[in-house]
Amino acid sequence: MKLSWQVLQELEQKYGECFYLLDISKFKDNYCQLLDCFRSIYPNTNIGYSYKTNYIPKICQSVYELGGYAEVVSQMEYDLAKSIGVPPSRIIFNGPLKYDRDLERAVLANSIVNLDSLQEVKTIVELAKRLPEQTISVGLRCNFDIGTDRISRFGLDVENDGLDAIFKQFKELGNCQVIGLHCHFTTEQRSLESYALRAKKIIELNDRYFPDLPPKFIDVGGGYFGHMEDNLRQQFPFDIPTYREYAEVIATQFSQRFGRDVGPELIIEPGVALVANVMKFVGKIVGLKTIRSRHLALLTGSIHTVKPSKQLPLTIYKNELDSYRIESNIPIDLVGYTCMEHDCLYPEYPNAVGVGDYTVFDNVGAYSIVFKPPFIWPSPPIVSYDATLDTYTLARRQETSQDVFATYQL
Ligand SMILES: Cc1ncc(COP(=O)(O)O)c(C=O)c1O
Repeated sequence: MKLSWQVLQELEQKYGECFYLLDISKFKDNYCQLLDCFRSIYPNTNIGYSYKTNYIPKICQSVYELGGYAEVVSQMEYDLAKSIGVPPSRIIFNGPLKYDRDLERAVLANSIVNLDSLQEVKTIVELAKRLPEQTISVGLRCNFDIGTDRISRFGLDVENDGLDAIFKQFKELGNCQVIGLHCHFTTEQRSLESYALRAKKIIELNDRYFPDLPPKFIDVGGGYFGHMEDNLRQQFPFDIPTYREYAEVIATQFSQRFGRDVGPELIIEPGVALVANVMKFVGKIVGLKTIRSRHLALLTGSIHTVKPSKQLPLTIYKNELDSYRIESNIPIDLVGYTCMEHDCLYPEYPNAVGVGDYTVFDNVGAYSIVFKPPFIWPSPPIVSYDATLDTYTLARRQETSQDVFATYQL
């Protein structure tokens, strides 16, 4: 994507004063690179893309075309997968809240359903009793200690014999089987050590519950870091692992335990690692002011549109027409459109800026659009860039006031 002030101005004329830019080829590259790293060590690996991280249908469609699973955690996301043509058997249904009707429907449609609680186990047992002729297959989300301070609230506690009872009950029923083991933990450091430990512990569970023949799949969840620019990487007080390093600590344990070619399907559920660096946010500087010693530039975006957890990489494209500029040695706060004092997208930007400049924030693909509230302004459009054709098309139109208020009684 070759951006310049002129290109951005043309895009502005078509799509409005702020918009996201999605680079779908970059997403596909990330997907193939990550998968190749795992498959070069353990060939029977597949990706379940975490819809919640960024569910732009265009992204989800690419995942399906590339042979991946849709990893969903609600009926809303399940419905999206179906509506873009993903067959139920390519959907992994996770998450803590699955209504009985949704859980049963997904299981009967042959989706991979990972049970999260004893209550869900009970629903499945009742279903199996109601349909004695039918084989009911499920996965179990397992919760074990990986040394985190906080005890995760998800999945089934493997350390208090909870799983023993489930396996026993399923065996007695006769028509209920566990076809996979699943785990997912979110940790701040996303470290290699913690992934090595997850893989080790889930393989131990495999050995305990499947001593003769492994299950169909073992799913080690998501939570990996992706590619990032140096100035973002340097803000973390620890090393950022690469795709290859993650593959080495996880997939190697699988090939050592099961052999390269005959083991269970290894599923990984990346979100951030695939999508964070495939979106940019473009906002325009529309106002400048100085209040006592503070210089401010107002943008057509907000912290709600970019969701920064670190200082996002920023490129400013200078207005090529004559414009009002602040040329000063005093840093400028680039602030957002909301009425909140803390809405600052870039504190103390060190260089000169002017009205009509475009600010392009990078690395805004993960947990941004899915978390954008209808606070003060509707959501900006998403423009998708096709690198092969060098064209821009709309992936989501600008939200309107009518969209925002459509569900209220007026
Ligand atoms: C079950 C499950 N899988 C995968 C993910 C994706 O995580 P990330 O986007 O950090 O890779 C999540 C995120 O919370 C999750 O809950």
